[in-house]
Amino acid sequence: MSEPRSEPRDTARIFYANIIDSVGDGVLALDAAGLVTLMNPAAEEITGVSRRQAVGNPFAAVFRGEQLLTEMVEKTATTGMTISDHENVVLKKAGHTTPVSATTSPLLLESGERVGTILVLRDLGNIRDLERAVRQADRLSALGTLAVGLAHEIKNPLGGIKGAAQLLEQELPEESELRDYTRVMIKEVRRVNRIVEELLELASPRKLELGRVNIHKILGDILVLQKRAAGREITFRQQFDPSIPPILADEALLTQLFLNLIKNAVEAVGELGTVQVASRVVSDYSMSHNWERRSRMVAVEVSDDGPGMVKEQLEHLFTPFFTTKAKGTGLGLAICQKIVSEHRGMIKVDSDPGHGTTFTVMLPLIQ
Ligand SMILES: Nc1ncnc2c1ncn2[C@@H]1O[C@H](COP(=O)(O)OP(=O)(O)OP(=O)(O)O)[C@@H](O)[C@H]1O
Ligand SMILES: [Mg+2]
Repeated sequence: MSEPRSEPRDTARIFYANIIDSVGDGVLALDAAGLVTLMNPAAEEITGVSRRQAVGNPFAAVFRGEQLLTEMVEKTATTGMTISDHENVVLKKAGHTTPVSATTSPLLLESGERVGTILVLRDLGNIRDLERAVRQADRLSALGTLAVGLAHEIKNPLGGIKGAAQLLEQELPEESELRDYTRVMIKEVRRVNRIVEELLELASPRKLELGRVNIHKILGDILVLQKRAAGREITFRQQFDPSIPPILADEALLTQLFLNLIKNAVEAVGELGTVQVASRVVSDYSMSHNWERRSRMVAVEVSDDGPGMVKEQLEHLFTPFFTTKAKGTGLGLAICQKIVSEHRGMIKVDSDPGHGTTFTVMLPLIQ
């Protein structure tokens, strides 16, 4: 049996349906009674509600938890006004919140008669992440200029102090108690030197030494070393996706990145706890709304069941010198963030006070 020839009306309908489905913003249409009549794929993705769940049902029932949205829809339906909110709407889906900008407008016939409401949603999650990254980069570059100058100034006198302490040590008799003091001086100078070097590294641009890197080997090696150094009461778990191929990256930098994260996790659990490192491929993660250009990423999660962090702590996490540790420099995570962005990746943190912390690093899967 042959397909019925599509009528011109049908062709137009398919044409418009394709347009709506291809729009990167979420589009929902409601009829005059408030029932959902149309929902495009972007709306499904943004809201976490499927077309099947929504179409034919009252908007207010489907989106019961989203009070702000239902209020906007109701107001447009009763007054015919267009309402936009780019700041306040936050959708709750699957335990996560997504900031969105929302616009509701009346659906009008050619005659001007109002027959329903249109709701357009734009996911601001990526934009907010980017804004945050840009703010952080600004802060870093301002700090960078200052730091490079300061670091160079500090390095020379530091060399002098270390040399003098070493000379002093040589002059003192083997059994002198004063040698303890010179040893402390030399040790602390080394510490300051390390901070200065890390700061210089953080502030200066550099060229990546790219090669094919086996992430699991890096992670495995770090875990072996940390296991040996840590107490027996810390459990280390690894959960690697064996299908992840070697990726194009700078091996030394990735080692530094994951070492910093795993060390933080070990330090967070203290005497007793679990540190877990897992890898997986994230195929649906995308920085753009363009479906075709979805890139595949490798996600590495470093989790611990330590004390977790409160909101104020999370806000300053990547700021250089932010530390809550007596012996910390507070540069570890700032360096991590620099390495991740040099690899065009993303780093994010989820933390629950009392329950632990997970850092997720996403790197492009380029082979
Ligand atoms: N897994 C974690 N759990 C709880 N808090 C963490 C975790 N990772 C980092 N932090 C918090 O973030 C702060 C900054 O971490 P960062 O690695 O930048 O510096 P640091 O660990 O304090 O010092 P350094 O890395 O130079 O030794 C830490 O002092 C700690 O308060
Ligand atoms: Mg650290």
